[in-house]
Order: sequence, then C-alpha cells, then structure tokens
Amino acid sequence: MKKLLKYGCAVLALVLVFDLCLTALNFGQAEAAGENPYSDVPDGAWYSDDTLWCYENNIMSGVGDGRFDPDAPMNRAMLVTVLYRAEGTPAVTDAPTFPDVSAGQWYFDAVAWAAKNGVVDGYADGNFGPTDRLTREQAVTILWRYAEKPDAGTSTGFADESEIAGYALSAVAWAKENDVVGGVGNNQFAPKDGITRAQAAAILARLLRGGQDEPAPSAGPSEPAETDGNGVLVVYFSATDNTRRVAQTIAETLGADIFELVPTEPYTSADLDWTDPNSRVSREHNDASLRNVALVNAVPENWDNYGTVFVGYPIWWGGAAWPVNGFVTANDFTGKTVIPFCTSSSSGMGSSGAGLAALAGEGDWQDGRRFQSGASETTVTEWVASLDLTPAVPADPTAPTAPTTPTEPEDGTSVVYFTSDISSEGMLAVYKALGWTPTGDVAVKLSTGEPPASNYLRPELIEGVVKEVNGTIVECNTAYGGSRSETAMHYQVAEDHGFTAIANVDILDADGSMELPVDGEGADTVLSSNLVGSHFADYDSYVVLSHFKGHAMAGFGGAIKNISIGLGSKEGKCLIHTGGRSHTSPWGGDQTAFTESMAEAGKSVSDYLGEGERIIYISVLNNISIDCDCNGNPAEPDIHDIGILASTDPVAIDQAAYDLCKAAEGSESLMQRIDRQNGLHTLEHAEEIGLGSRTYTLTDIDRQ
Ligand SMILES: Cc1cc2nc3c(=O)[nH]c(=O)nc-3n(C[C@H](O)[C@H](O)[C@H](O)COP(=O)(O)O)c2cc1C
Repeated sequence: MKKLLKYGCAVLALVLVFDLCLTALNFGQAEAAGENPYSDVPDGAWYSDDTLWCYENNIMSGVGDGRFDPDAPMNRAMLVTVLYRAEGTPAVTDAPTFPDVSAGQWYFDAVAWAAKNGVVDGYADGNFGPTDRLTREQAVTILWRYAEKPDAGTSTGFADESEIAGYALSAVAWAKENDVVGGVGNNQFAPKDGITRAQAAAILARLLRGGQDEPAPSAGPSEPAETDGNGVLVVYFSATDNTRRVAQTIAETLGADIFELVPTEPYTSADLDWTDPNSRVSREHNDASLRNVALVNAVPENWDNYGTVFVGYPIWWGGAAWPVNGFVTANDFTGKTVIPFCTSSSSGMGSSGAGLAALAGEGDWQDGRRFQSGASETTVTEWVASLDLTPAVPADPTAPTAPTTPTEPEDGTSVVYFTSDISSEGMLAVYKALGWTPTGDVAVKLSTGEPPASNYLRPELIEGVVKEVNGTIVECNTAYGGSRSETAMHYQVAEDHGFTAIANVDILDADGSMELPVDGEGADTVLSSNLVGSHFADYDSYVVLSHFKGHAMAGFGGAIKNISIGLGSKEGKCLIHTGGRSHTSPWGGDQTAFTESMAEAGKSVSDYLGEGERIIYISVLNNISIDCDCNGNPAEPDIHDIGILASTDPVAIDQAAYDLCKAAEGSESLMQRIDRQNGLHTLEHAEEIGLGSRTYTLTDIDRQ
C-alpha cells in the first residue's frame, strides 16, 4: 500500500475503494491464504502470486471448474466489471447510451456505472465494444480514468510511443511513472497488444498492493538461470505475434530465457502490406541494401551462459524475415547448438535456417522446424519434447503430457489430411495418405475456370493425381452466360486452360441430364431428386478436385459445391439454386433453400457412388479470393496460400478448409462473405442428412 501513496489523493481514493471492496464483497469462497484453488495456475508461474492474491481478496475470481483460464483474453466489459464490483456494485439509474450495450447483459450495470463516472467513453462510432479484446492502452486508460486522471504529462519514453493512441498517452505515462503497467521489454509498450486474464490479475494486484514488476510473457530477457554455459535461450522476431506465441511456448516448456528482437522502427501493418509494392517490406524485399534493420538490442545479456539458442522468425517471401539478420551477425555462435524455427502461412522452412547458419558462420545449426501461423501449443510442445532437451527448471511432474495426434480418429470422426506443399507432388502425397483405390473408370471433377483470369486449379498442379488414377477430367456447363455455358465453347476453354493436354475431358451434360434420388435419411429435404449431367454414370469412381475460395451466392465453394452445382446439368443447377422452384433460371431462390439444396444434391451423388465409397475429395487452399472460379475477374486474395486437404468426407474437408481460412491472416473479407450468405448452413444441413461430419481430425502429413 505504501507504493500507492505516491499516486496522490485520487489513487488513495481508489485504494480505499478497493480496500472497502475487499471487506464488502464476497464473489467466491476465498480459501485460506496460500491455498491454490486453480488447476490451471501452476505454483511458480509468473502470475500465480498475483492471481491468488486477487482471488483471496475477491478482486478476480475463476471461470468455474476450478480454473482461472490465465491465457484467456480480457475483454472491455470484464475490466469494467472488475472495477464496478470493486466499487461495491452501486445501483445504477442511467442506462448507458451505447447501442451495443442493452439491459439484461451481464455487464450492463457495470458499463452504465463506468460511463456515468467517466471511466469509459466508448468508441467514436458511439459503441462500447463490450466483448472486444482489451488492449494494453485501453486497460491503462480505464485504470487512469478510474483513478480520476492524475496529471502525468504525455511523454511516455517508450520507443513505440508513436503507436500509442493520443487519448492513452497520459494514461500510459502515469502507468509507467507509477509502476502500474511496465513495458513488454526492449522499451516497448505494445499498446495494441491484448491483455490476458493473468496479466490483468498482475496489474490489478500491483495497483492495489504495489511492489512487483509486471513479468509479462513478452517481457525482455529475465535473469538467466544458473546455467554454466548450458542454458537455453529463445530469441525471436515477430511482426504479428505468430512467432511470438511459438517462442513463448518453447520458452515456457523448457523454462528457458526469452529475448525479443525489436526493430528500432517497428513494422506497422501498412509497413507489412506485401500486396503494396510501395510498402516498407516490399521496398526492403526489392532492395537488399534496405534490409539492415536496426534493432533496439541485438545482443542478449549473458550470451556466454547459453549453450542452446532457438532462433525464431516469420517467413517473408520464402525466406527468414530479415530483422533476425542483425542478431545473427552481432553474436558469436561458436560452441552453441542453434535451433531455428519459423512460422508461415503456407511456405515451408526452405533454406531459411541454412541461410542464417551461413550468415553466422559458426555454431551447430540444426534443421529446425516450420510451424503454421496459428500452430497450437500442443504442436509446439510436442516438437520441443522430441528435441530431448532437458528443461532448465524441473517440469511439473503432475502436468498432463501433450497428446500425440492420432493418424486415425478414435471416435469415428472423419480424417482430413493436410500438406502445406502446394505442388503436384504435394497433391499426390495427400491423395495417397487416404489409402483409397479407385475402381473402374475414374472421373476427376474440377472447375475448368471462367476466362480470362479466374483462379482455377492449374493443370500442372493436378497432373500428378490425374495421371495416378488414369482419370478423365469431367465438368458440366454453366447455367448462366459466360464462356462455358455451351458444350463446344466449354471444350475450347478446357483446351485453352491446358486440361486437354493432360487428360481426356468430358462435359457430362453435353447430352442432357440424369436423375439421382435425394435421401435425407429421415430429415426434411428441399429436393426430392437431383439432375446431374447424363454422362455422370459412365464413371465408376470420382476424384473431386476443388479450389476452396469464396462465392458470391454460396458464401464459399469447396467440395460440396463441386459435387452439387458442379455436377448439375443446367436444369439441375437451376433447381438447386432455387430450391426446386425453377427448371430454367438460377436466379431469385431462397438462400436457405439454396444452401440446403446444395447439401442434398451432394448427398445424392455420394449415395449413388456406393454411399461415398467410390468418391474422394481433394481441396486446394491457394489463391483464396472471396470470388469463385466462375468469376473471370475475381478479387485479389486477402489470405496467403495455406495448403492441400484430402478426405473421404466432403463435409469434413469443407469444414477443415473453412477453419484453416478463418484462422489465417486476412480472413475477414472471406468470413464476412460466408457469414452474409449463411454459407455454413450448407455444412449444417449436410451433416443433418448424413453426408458427412463437421467434426474431424486434421492430420498433417508433412510431420509424419
Ligand atoms: C512481408 C510478408 C511476407 C510473407 N511471405 C510469406 C511467404 O512467402 N510464405 C508464407 O507462407 N507466408 C508468408 N507470410 C506470412 C507470414 O510468414 C506468417 O503470417 C507468419 O506467421 C507471421 O509471423 P509473425 O506473426 O511472427 O510476424 C508473409 C508475411 C509478410 C508480412
């Protein structure tokens, strides 16, 4: 409490309020001091003392089931609620004017109180954003306002001050001066980073009882453990946090020290816009002389103490992001084992590690590992375990060990195989992972792509699989205008796009339609039958090659769209689009009926082919525009290429493709389109009628 006195009267009032709350409130049954009620707050974790202090003093309670959920993000409503409870939940009379906060929501009273007392203002558009992630600058501002805005000037002294919003400058200056919230290492404040529940507990505990530094996971290097030159250090550069997360997991798993490489001029999102030829990264990429990025600190303290050094970076244009170069050239790696790791959207590690080894000149550089941008903690800890490095601090013997990924699901859910290798070899490998053998004549269904510039799957990408199955490429005419609405023109497009050069091509509805029954397996269906091209039955087995991307009407197009609309004759397509209402026009149907009809048409195809036994699916996640390949001039993709999936289940493969896209950087535009068209309803209905399962196991064949 002594420390709080220096905040002045306003903070003293805050302290008194909190003190009052400590005796007045009883949110949970605080246990005897020192007892840890949380299964997920290990003793010795950097946040354990503060979390327990908050618990014992009823400042923050757990999330139920004996858990605190330390890594969960705090949102804006949560912090306001903590403060409101600290105030003793006074009655509120005035409703807040934020359109996104309404009576009955759990945070309504707290936000009303906070707005009335000037603790929160809301956004410029009038909303409060209750469930928005709470950023560091927002958290500090809320606490500063709660403390009645003590005067602290506007100079924070942080190297990234220019990134701090104007409204937050005084708050950050105050927080720094009074040790309420420190930096994250290397003199950075990281204003836009989110706050986790563990960090919030640390800040609140510090504010109320004073005294401790904020040991945020992203903090700079801590005091090295007693190592005798055998210590482990994790060094990383990360522009958008993906590599940071992996680095933190490695460091936490091994009890290692961590050191972030921070450019003196950090990269903004505009700087990182690789689609803009004039952005900073593009200019640096095009001109090697610009790639000497100055670092706040390139030399870790106590370098000699470390025998093993992990070096992490994002992949930029297929290589290691160049801000790591300054670190590699500034240090002597003689006698050290160096383990590179990187994150990327789809590219492999390539020669990035070898390139850094050459730059270093010394050290025993290992092959290292590339992770998907959103790699799970389990994936990282499994890899670390496979390295057989002894943790610098003893691991908790009671901690659960990471599960290994099963190659076959134990619960009957579908398997989706994945490779990040978007090449003919990669496609062949992921196909072979299915262990499926076609029988009889084999059709390879794909979209021939609308000219002039659609993102159809290129012949050189699919050639390996087409030849492996000795397949005939099959397609149907479109129901709208364009270059593929008549058979002769369609064959011409197939030739122009290079498909006739690798296989025979058959336009299945050149001679009309054939009817397949729809069986909803007890569920109501929109369609009773489905019209596919009449050559459909000429083939015994189907390999469905889909390009996963957005679609203006369906939201997205993947495997199910390919075997429904894609195999439909013109008449069949019109019936699917209109939920059975029109045989001649694809326009004007009900959206729900359309999405359900796609699932039902797909089911009819799968049923016909031995109830799914004679059909498999391969989906390519590249050139992921919001527009389909039926659009000759699609929008530029916002998402990087991801990889290739294969499955015997069309629902699982579409769900997996959706999930991977959703997790990818830049997915907002695609997700908006899918949401707007209620695209996921196709999968919901497909699962309901028994076409497949939305629950799946993703097996990464690159790791086997
Ligand atoms: C300038 C730039 C270039 C990139 N180039 C590639 C690339 O060639 N291949 C790839 O798969 N991902 C590429 N990415 C995506 C990043 O590698 C990926 O998002 C990574 O996880 C980012 O890590 P970070 O969040 O630690 O910065 C690029 C990203 C940027 C900003």
